[in-house]
Amino acid sequence: MSARVLAAADPAAIREGATVLRQGGLVAFPTETVYGLGADAFNPIAVARVFEAKARPFFDPLIVHLASEGDLARVSPSEDPRVRALGARFWPGPLTLVLPRRPEVPDLVTAGLETVAVRVPAHPGAHALIAASGTAVAAPSANPFGYVSPTTAAHVAELLGGSVDLVLDGGPCSVGVESTILSLVGEAPVILRPGGLAREALEEALGLPLEVAAPAERPLAPGQLLKHYATRTPLRLLPGPAGPRPRGAGRVGLLAWSAAPSRAYAAVEVLSPDGSTKTAAAGLFAALRRLDAAGLDLILAEPCHEAGLGHAIMDRLRRAARER
Ligand code: TXA
Ligand code: MG
Repeated sequence: MSARVLAAADPAAIREGATVLRQGGLVAFPTETVYGLGADAFNPIAVARVFEAKARPFFDPLIVHLASEGDLARVSPSEDPRVRALGARFWPGPLTLVLPRRPEVPDLVTAGLETVAVRVPAHPGAHALIAASGTAVAAPSANPFGYVSPTTAAHVAELLGGSVDLVLDGGPCSVGVESTILSLVGEAPVILRPGGLAREALEEALGLPLEVAAPAERPLAPGQLLKHYATRTPLRLLPGPAGPRPRGAGRVGLLAWSAAPSRAYAAVEVLSPDGSTKTAAAGLFAALRRLDAAGLDLILAEPCHEAGLGHAIMDRLRRAARER
């Protein structure tokens, strides 16, 4: 069964998506980071369908998406001045804040935690859908659990088509990696997941250096699973620029940074022809998918400099490279 795909720029499609959400259905929608698989955050049965569609374990909580910061009180009682400051500066945008939750947020959304992850996405299609639905939208990335996140509507339709009521197509995602998750519930703010908003920008806004929580197997922030964002083809992260193709490894593909080093590889994807991390992040998941579809035995990935979006890119590559 294939999904209905409608243009997110079409107001009639947005109205239809909002109706599907209000009736407890699932709508895949574009955000500036990756495509989300949305359900009414206050409808536990709809939220359960999200977990089922993704084969996602129930201990992994979802991000709640709001049309605007003004809706925050519906999911969190927080009056933390840092939320205001960060929201004013970075919302709408690729920042998720972990805050104390309201009891009205279903346990399924928060995996029973006393906290809720919240974000106000910037993509006009996401904004229009959430605003028209009149609710908050719980949405993980629209991919099967553990696989590479989708950055086009076609990726979503291919992987989850049969289990989604509607896919809204808003074009390729401009950021390309998931939001940066910042927890404000502990003693000090901590980054739970590096993402589309650079750590340096958050540090400047907060006026303090930030720790990045180490990914763990079964941690307090359950989504920080080590093995995530994985291709089906084994992937190895190189310590530096790629050399000649390794012998005896079968068909080897290369995820290169800014130049294709040799023609010996069976497939090559160049992430950042212009050398910028922004370009690399925007194309990362699509490049991984193309390599994964190329019938390779091994994917080698060149590392990048860990600054700005480089933190998020290296985080995704490290996790994709974990042994399964
Ligand atoms: O850019 C994004 O954040 C995308 C788009 C669709 O908004 N969403 C996304 O969702 O990446 P997902 O479900 O793939 O990743 C959400 C992460 C999970 O790793 C989860 O563990 C973490 O957010 N999370 C959710 N609620 C949390 C909470 N209360 N405390 C700590 N971590 C939380
Ligand atoms: Mg995900």
